[in-house]
Amino acid sequence: MRITFVLNGEERHVECLPDRRVVDLLREDFGLTGTKEACGTGECGACTILVDGETRLSCLMLAAQLEGRSVTTIEGLGAEGCLHPLQEAFVQCGAVQCGYCSPGMILTALALIKENPAPTREEIRKALSGNLCRCTGYQKIVDAVEEAARVTRGGQ
Ligand code: FES
Repeated sequence: MRITFVLNGEERHVECLPDRRVVDLLREDFGLTGTKEACGTGECGACTILVDGETRLSCLMLAAQLEGRSVTTIEGLGAEGCLHPLQEAFVQCGAVQCGYCSPGMILTALALIKENPAPTREEIRKALSGNLCRCTGYQKIVDAVEEAARVTRGGQ
């Protein structure tokens, strides 16, 4: 089937089987390998993307479900030499170690900050509860999201 959707701000058309998983479509057809697959069963959050601004697990989503939707992957944030405030905060706060969970964490945090520009640490922890990290521990990740929210609000 032919699917038309917006990917990181650009309209895209793709021919694929309707049951192709979105994580495979993004990584293999579009080369967007920032979207990671770990568990493949909806447990870890590594494959998180935004669809119409809401978090979705791309390992559990089928390509046909993207028709007419707008998708954001980690590649859609920031630009060469100009990181998104969340990416910058993750680096500055030491919230990235192996980096495997980082794209999913950052996109989840982005959705949170859009909805709640001044989240408490508890709200950040709750929002990230579906995103698993095996190496940094969560303290620095929560620090980073808190800092990015502060910067995004204009430093208050
Ligand atoms: Fe999709 Fe783990 S790879 S939730």
